[in-house]
Amino acid sequence: MEKPQNLILVIFGASGDLTKRKLVPALYDLYKQNLLPDGFAILGVGRTQLSDDTFRTDMGKGIKTFSNEGSLDNNLVKDFLLKLHYLSINTKSPEDYALLKNKLSALDSVLNSKENFIYYLAIPPDMYEVVTANIGRQELNTQSNNEGWKRIIIEKPFGYDLESAKSLNKKLLQVFKEDQIYRIDHYLGKETVQNLIVTRFANGIFEPLWNRNYIHHVEITSAESIGVESRGSYYDNSGALRDMVQNHLLQITGLVAMEPPSSFQSNSIRNEVLKVFQSFRPIRVNDVDKYVIRGQYIASKIKGERVPGYREEKNVTPDSRTETYVAMKFYIDNWRWGGVPFYIRTGKRLPTRVTEVVIHFKPTPHYLFAKKEIGESCNQMVIRIQPDEGILLKVGMKLPGAGFNVKNVNMDFHYSDLLDIYLPTAYERLLLDCMIGDSTLYARGDIVEEAWKFVSPIQEVWKNNPNIKIFGYPAGTWGPENADDLIEEKTITWRYPCKNLSNDGTYCEL
Ligand code: BG6
Repeated sequence: MEKPQNLILVIFGASGDLTKRKLVPALYDLYKQNLLPDGFAILGVGRTQLSDDTFRTDMGKGIKTFSNEGSLDNNLVKDFLLKLHYLSINTKSPEDYALLKNKLSALDSVLNSKENFIYYLAIPPDMYEVVTANIGRQELNTQSNNEGWKRIIIEKPFGYDLESAKSLNKKLLQVFKEDQIYRIDHYLGKETVQNLIVTRFANGIFEPLWNRNYIHHVEITSAESIGVESRGSYYDNSGALRDMVQNHLLQITGLVAMEPPSSFQSNSIRNEVLKVFQSFRPIRVNDVDKYVIRGQYIASKIKGERVPGYREEKNVTPDSRTETYVAMKFYIDNWRWGGVPFYIRTGKRLPTRVTEVVIHFKPTPHYLFAKKEIGESCNQMVIRIQPDEGILLKVGMKLPGAGFNVKNVNMDFHYSDLLDIYLPTAYERLLLDCMIGDSTLYARGDIVEEAWKFVSPIQEVWKNNPNIKIFGYPAGTWGPENADDLIEEKTITWRYPCKNLSNDGTYCEL
């Protein structure tokens, strides 16, 4: 595994939740695997006044709770924490960035990091432009050929709609070049999302089937059992379409649907994803309620305990019409996918936490055996992203005994069968990729804009048309029943997945 060059990682928003729960634990996990360079430091930046020691103690607690490693080596944690430093500045004030410059130069001379800096913006989105501009004012963005490289990582949400995403891209590009900008979509960092590329392009047997001739429809589900928890004020202004569909689910769609790239170069892959996004058939204003179903969870009992409805959650307006569930149907108008419906759905407070892609293959042209309904296929391929990560192929086999009765059986592979294989977290993978300058698993500016181009008109229609219904669904259920009507054929339903990859059905072990 390639080790990055010496570098300093500057985290803006260092006293926030993301730093403690995700970033620092992921960096510790990289350190433990000896994947960080020798000359390495993390400089936490924020408004809160903290000493290096207090910052280290707090981050140590984060590592203990959130590190991917089961058992912690206390000495290693101690060594790692020495790499953490903290600087308190007013991030809005351009003058304060002189302090940042001085601090970086002091650390740089000790570490011999050759002015290789990564800036991580773990701050509220309305601060992205200000912080970037201030970095530019102090010329902390400049790099010369292969020396003193500078990269910036931007957290989601990247924009609020098409216009704001375009404007943010424009502002970032005034300070950094596109190849210095790393837009995070943590789903792309998931091992099993990357396995989608390998499954498709390392195996010759799937490619001939991977098109409109053999695939009936594609289903992508990302279900969560939790509600909005403490994020009411963010979520109420976002909703599931912005929070999950515009980024994570469309990125997965891109990998499922793209053409084989000519190489494994970052832009070669991302060019293919862009073409998929450019081929999305726009959903017309008058068709929004036909193609997109939105829902919101209402109070219910789960395992005997009352669970509050969305409108009762903290920092959510009591008459909120923000969707906590979206199901939609759309088409990709190109030669590979012409006429194949894609169904995607996501929601909070669904029965279980699961993300998966289901490829539904067409039925045989003529069915020889009894008991299959016309149009019903034996074959599905389930690519499970989480949990019980793996792949499952459903095939029809003869039931032993008299006659020719067919039963659908599973051929499955579970990552958990690979003993001693360590599954890195998404943040581990993405942080390391940025350190070595590989942007393949980061979203490119034009792709993000294309995704908004597809999604923003739906938001507009919902905003301007109060007659479009938002359906309540009891917490702990699979969302509004109307979502079933998106699928026209009566013999076909959504897959109702269980935690365990091999099982499905409306009622199952959750
Ligand atoms: C985030 C969303 O991007 O993804 C959250 O903002 C959501 O609302 C989360 O809960 C889901 O991520 P994961 O990795 O738990 O599936």
